[in-house]
Amino acid sequence: MVVELTQGVYWVGVVDWAIRQFHGHELSTHRGSSYNAYLIVDEKIVLVDTVWDPFRAQLIRNISEVVDPAKIDIVVANHAEADHSGSLPTVLKYAPNATVVVSQRGKESVEGHFHQPWNFKAVKTGDKINIGKNDLAFVEAPMLHWPDSMFTYLTGKNIFMTNDAFGQHYATIFRFNDQVNQEELYEEALKYYANILTPFSGPVLKKIEEVLSLNLPVDVIAPSHGVIWRKDPLQIVKRYQQWATQESEKSAVVLYDTMWEGTRHMAEAIGQGLAAEGVPCKLFHMSVSDRNDVIAEVFKAKAIIVGSPTFNQGPLPTISPVLEDLRGLKFKNKIGAAFGSYGWSGEAVEIIEKHLDICKIQIVAEGVRAKWQPKPDDLAKCRELGQKVAHAVIA
Ligand code: FEO
Repeated sequence: MVVELTQGVYWVGVVDWAIRQFHGHELSTHRGSSYNAYLIVDEKIVLVDTVWDPFRAQLIRNISEVVDPAKIDIVVANHAEADHSGSLPTVLKYAPNATVVVSQRGKESVEGHFHQPWNFKAVKTGDKINIGKNDLAFVEAPMLHWPDSMFTYLTGKNIFMTNDAFGQHYATIFRFNDQVNQEELYEEALKYYANILTPFSGPVLKKIEEVLSLNLPVDVIAPSHGVIWRKDPLQIVKRYQQWATQESEKSAVVLYDTMWEGTRHMAEAIGQGLAAEGVPCKLFHMSVSDRNDVIAEVFKAKAIIVGSPTFNQGPLPTISPVLEDLRGLKFKNKIGAAFGSYGWSGEAVEIIEKHLDICKIQIVAEGVRAKWQPKPDDLAKCRELGQKVAHAVIA
């Protein structure tokens, strides 16, 4: 259903209630998502972003509720990723003469995706296009989260259409931030930041400073996923500024896998050590935990303690993907340690420690290895490990 944001500006996107895996299978989306596209009716008709291709018919139906899609003059493609540009070929079939506005880098990426001789106009930060009463103004936002990413600002209506930035994978029947459960909203916004934007925290901070210095009035921040920020819209900008500093809570995450419960007993003893020093911690058994949810917890916590028995001379296969996530996401200001049981060769702990080191996670306690099932002495060492990490957390 089309929703009017303000006179002449419409949400014409789709809500995807069913999607549970995004980016292929890289990101879990337990609450679904939405693909937000915005239609502006001024002297010119403008569509800002499209939707994922499987929903192209719904996009066209939505546009048609407001205006004949053939009358679209300008399509702004803020970002070439398929969830936003996927329906460009359909829209351009209806409006073949429309100008496709892209960032400088966007021309390459949109052309690279579609190989079509569309009428492109590449814009850069500060460029404006008059559409009648109001202008579209553009701000390039490279690496938020692709090189091509761009924000589009509508003067007169004071709406910032920020594409992926400030989004959430959150399907709801409502379109605005003041209409939804705030705890759910921020849980999804943080998970989105932690799993997608953390490596770009430097550019995030710089871009926010740059945009704020423009002193543009902002009544609405309209991202391309989830709800639209109309009530106190800058609240999510402030939250991004806070997240981008990567200051942690004084807490810990213990993530582990286990074959015959030995490493689980060790994980629980480490948890007891942390708790004894008053440091909250959460334990995640990785073979039954969602990796992206765990990453969101790691993002919030100061310490990450990783455990695995040795299997084929390394950690169990459920541990390696999360270690890879940690490498790619480049979390800052984290401390950590490793532990695990083993039968004969026992390399897992050392391999995990090496990986934490590669991730620049400072190891603050010597790893604990327990041969076969942990003995009381081994569990005492685990409690000590937990206490040592706790001291470093609260230091
Ligand atoms: Fe980078 Fe929502 O796509």
